Amino acid sequence: MFRIPKGKNCDKEVRTPPVLLMHGLLVSSDAWIDSGPDAGLAYLIADECYDLWIGNVRGNHYSKEHLKYNPKKDPEYWNFTPNEIGIYDAPALIDYVLNNTDSKTLNYIGYSQGGMMFVIMCSERPGYCDKVGQAILLHPATRMNSTKSVMFRMFTKYYDTVQPYISSASELEALPQGGILQQLTDVLCRKDVLADTICRSILYLIDSSHPGAVSIPTLQALSKHFPAGTSVKGMSFYNQRLSTDRFEKYDHGRDINLKVYGVEKPPAYNIKAVNIPVVIIHGESDHLSSPVDVQWLSTQLPNLVELYYVQDPLWNHLDVLYNQHLKEKMFPKIKEYLFKNSRKRF
Ligand SMILES: *[C@@H]1O[C@H](CO)[C@@H](O)[C@H](O)[C@H]1NC(C)=O
Ligand SMILES: *[C@@H]1O[C@H](CO)[C@@H](O)[C@H](O)[C@H]1NC(C)=O
Repeated sequence: MFRIPKGKNCDKEVRTPPVLLMHGLLVSSDAWIDSGPDAGLAYLIADECYDLWIGNVRGNHYSKEHLKYNPKKDPEYWNFTPNEIGIYDAPALIDYVLNNTDSKTLNYIGYSQGGMMFVIMCSERPGYCDKVGQAILLHPATRMNSTKSVMFRMFTKYYDTVQPYISSASELEALPQGGILQQLTDVLCRKDVLADTICRSILYLIDSSHPGAVSIPTLQALSKHFPAGTSVKGMSFYNQRLSTDRFEKYDHGRDINLKVYGVEKPPAYNIKAVNIPVVIIHGESDHLSSPVDVQWLSTQLPNLVELYYVQDPLWNHLDVLYNQHLKEKMFPKIKEYLFKNSRKRF
């Protein structure tokens, strides 16, 4: 976890409660700074005088320590999905922030899987939701059956298909930073002309095309940090999410489901347990968390404050991390709600 207690350009008193910023699938805390000090959300929040904590979840580049298991050698380390991230990592990160600040609550900002882990936490860990005063969910991923991205569907399908046949720790890790795919794109993207063509096209393929959104230096920075790794089982969890119209737990297959859940089919997470105020900010061209699914989530949340769409018809999933105009297009809404739900510290 990283902390920016006060941004370089903060010239007012720091406000409380602290803010916890959570990244999405296959990225790390690095993603929040890849677009530089004028657009990266970590800089923008800190410069508005919030005590900012930037988390990482198990399995990514920054978060591969374990008391018992060695992620390079022990397959057990990789036996997790966003379910465990929501049940264990989210509460641990929240407790850590609260333990190290004199605050009883925090403002939670979760992007994509960062939103999913929050919903899972509230569903599975009664009491933890109350430690969050307000949640701002950016393009949250929960139900995903309307996901349009063919590339995402292909990748998750691939990992779901190979999962039963693999068993070593190295095979059970998916798309690590320093892995072949990340190294290849990093090398490719170093030349400006290639960054602008090949690397840009890769982003368009993963999500949707958005000309003018991502600068060349940002493309080069992100290719050093993306993908940042997760478990194959986690990718398989996503593959399952792509074809069900509920936000369900992991499907282990009939026999194990009976043991684990007491029923043949995996039960749904309890979205109604998210009883704190939630703001959703979304974009119409998101091909990963589709507007249809996010709209559905908004109808399930008992305490939705606002569902806001960024005023740009081409705004997509990756714009949250990499758009050079984020400060004007998306940040004002985040700033509005952070300000409303905070006060001067002294
Ligand atoms: C937070 O503090 C409590 C009480 O001292 C302690 O039991 C817990 O382990 C701490 N949690 C974290 C994540 O630091
Ligand atoms: C997702 O599920 C809903 C509810 O069953 C259904 O109406 C919708 O067509 C599904 N979407 C896709 C793309 O499969």
